[in-house]
Order: sequence, then C-alpha cells, then structure tokens
Amino acid sequence: MTEQFHRIKRLPPYVFAEVNAHKQRMRQAGDDIIDFGMGNPDSPTPPHIVEKLVEAVRDPKTHRYSQSRGIPGLRRALAAYYERRFGVDIDPESEAIVTLGSKEGLANLAQAITSPGDVVLVPNPCYPIHSFGFIIAGGAIRSLPAGGDPSMSFRENFMAALERAVAHSIPKPLAVVLNFPQNPTAQCVDLDFYGEVVAFCRHHGIYILSDIAYAEIYFGDMPPPSVLQIPGAKEIAVEFTSLSKTYSMPGWRIGFAAGNKALVAALARIKSYVDYGAFTPIQVAATAAMNGPQDCVDQVRALYKERRDVLCQGLAKAGWPVPVPEATMFVWAPLPPGFEAMGSLAFSKQLLDAAKVAVAPGIGFGEYGEGYVRLGLVENTHRTRQALRGIKGFLAGGARDTERDAPARAGGTAG
Ligand SMILES: Cc1ncc(COP(=O)(O)O)c(C=O)c1O
Repeated sequence: MTEQFHRIKRLPPYVFAEVNAHKQRMRQAGDDIIDFGMGNPDSPTPPHIVEKLVEAVRDPKTHRYSQSRGIPGLRRALAAYYERRFGVDIDPESEAIVTLGSKEGLANLAQAITSPGDVVLVPNPCYPIHSFGFIIAGGAIRSLPAGGDPSMSFRENFMAALERAVAHSIPKPLAVVLNFPQNPTAQCVDLDFYGEVVAFCRHHGIYILSDIAYAEIYFGDMPPPSVLQIPGAKEIAVEFTSLSKTYSMPGWRIGFAAGNKALVAALARIKSYVDYGAFTPIQVAATAAMNGPQDCVDQVRALYKERRDVLCQGLAKAGWPVPVPEATMFVWAPLPPGFEAMGSLAFSKQLLDAAKVAVAPGIGFGEYGEGYVRLGLVENTHRTRQALRGIKGFLAGGARDTERDAPARAGGTAG
C-alpha cells in the first residue's frame, strides 16, 4: 500500500504550521500571545443576522438538504448587490452561484476547469488557495511576481509580467487569478487596470478568475471596483465574493461566484456532485445580511481603520515604518531595518519568543513574499498597543545572531 498519494505530495509542508506550533507551545506554557497571524475576523456577526438564523432554524422545513447552487433568494440578493454596488447586471439563474465560502468555490472551480498540465497565472505572493487550488487539480502554476521595476507603476509592472508569462507559457495559459484588494499585500487597483487586463485576456482567450473578498473592507473614498464592470468582461471572467469579512461571518462559510455563464455552470456541475449546498438557515440569514441594513458594514470598516491607524503609527514610532493599507484587514510590512537578512520565518519566530507577538511570515505566501511579514488587524486596540510595546523592546535589542532559515515553501491555509 502506498502512502505517497500523488496530490498530497504536491502540497508542501505548511510554513505557517511552524509558527503556529511554536505559538501553541508558548500558550500551553502560560504565555499570552498577541496574535496578528491569521485573517480570522474576531468581531461577532451582527445580531440581526444571528436572529434570522435562529428564526429560520426553528422551521423544520429548513432541515432538509438545501440546493447546491444556493437558494434562489440568496442568488437574487447577490445580483442586487452587484447592481447597487457596481452597476453590473447579473442573472441570478445562470450567472450566480452560492459557495461554501469563496475558498471552496475557488478550489472546486479549479477542479472543474483544469486539465492535467494546464498553466494558470497566479500573483506571487498570494492567498494560498489561489495557487494550490490549481496544483491540487493537476495544473501548473506560473507566478506573476510582485515588485518589478521600481520606476514603473504597479499596473505597468503587472502587465509586463502578464505579457511575459503568456509569451513564454506552453500551452497557452488557461486562466489568470486576480485578487484586489489583495491578501497579503493589500494592493488595490482601479477600473483602468481591469480594463487593460480584460482587453489583454479577451485578445488571448484567457479566463480571469477574480477574488474580491475584501471589496468592502476599504478605508478611503474610492470603493474597490469589480472586474465585471468592464464591458465584455463576462465573456471571460468570473468573480468570487464572500460574506466572511464584510459581515464578520467567517465561520458561516458563505461566498459566491458571479459572471461568465460557462464557468458558473462548470462550478455548479461539480458542486452538484460533491455537496448539497450550505445549510438553508445559513443561506436565509446570509440573504438577510445582504438585503438588510448595511450600517454594520460601516462599523466593520471603522473598526479595522482604527486598528490599522494604531498599529501603523505605533510601528513607525517603534522604528518600523510600514506602508499604510488602503483596504483589507492586513498590514504588509517589510522586515524592519537591521532585520532584513534573517528572512521572514526566523524574524517571525524571534518576534514571537521575545515580544509574544505572532505575525505571518511573508514566505508562506510565496517566494516573492520573502522579506515581509503580514499582520492581521484581528486584535483590539488595547492589545495592539500592548503588542507595540513588546515590538518596540524587541527592535531596540537589534537582530540576534541567527542562521537564515532553510528555504521555506509557501502553502497551507492562512486566512
Ligand atoms: C483573498 C481571500 N480570498 C478568499 C478567502 C476565503 O474566504 P471565505 O471565508 O469566503 O472562504 C480569504 C480568507 O482569508 C482571502 O483572504
């Protein structure tokens, strides 16, 4: 009997697991760890959504198998959201599907559309399912590396990387993954960016798989756009949205895909074989979240903005200046001055030991994430200030002698 299963062999050991195991040991020893490591929202789901769930669950009719594509009312609520937020017309029957969180949707769409060896273009660093969904499905990943020529804009560098990747990929890439605002870098884009990518991908016959899980977690006056706002985008693009961050519902597992009919149908087909849909009361409550009062979303934004300001200002004062994110619940921080040489994994471990503060090492999001750590805005301002005192003390002590960690591999399930 083999225990060397082909798909499992393609999944590298989870980089974050090393920091997590360390964190666990310290907690067991009684340490209070301030944990910025995972993008797992800590706020309770707004009460009107919870009450709708309780009301729905009392009706025994909701206890049966649900619909794998999602109940019609929830698909209509998604279409209404696209209309009011982006001015995009979505047919709830043929262009929308409910998923068990957007992560499940991405993974199953990858299963649905990938033939062995198909090339998929994925930003690096990235949220792990963006690459591993396709690796699990037997595809090959070609990275679109972050960075590039510092004298060029993000859009120019991205388009140059995209053009290079398409010119040098055999077979021609099947799809490109977009994720803006991005996890982990918090990179945002505008409609002109999407316009250029859509024109390029339509010309080359490449699907666009866009993930806008953070579309509602923004702090400026310009709400992030949707790729589906570009005329003709639906010919090639499908877009994933999620209730996890917008309504603090990460454990409820509700997300969506909307857009290109063939891609939505392919996902629906796979899902009809593997699940019966989310528990109906959850879908009923999700419908209430999307159709109901939206001031709870303003509160979520205000909460992350306040935490962002406390964290970024405090880090700057501690001698660690970091870019202030315009969106998402993450600060993507270059390693502080004097600590660059040790690499993100060793830095994260030392910070944990010395300051009792956990962060996610950038290398866990891909090789181009090296040199950075990600801090999730999931601790309240009181605990964030406590963490800042520890970080300041740690930085003042300077880098300890350390051997740079052996090359680590991206992977796993960082939120
Ligand atoms: C970019 C991105 N997409 C998708 C997800 C997963 O969201 P969901 O809870 O809808 O599966 C996350 C979670 O952290 C994320 O950061």
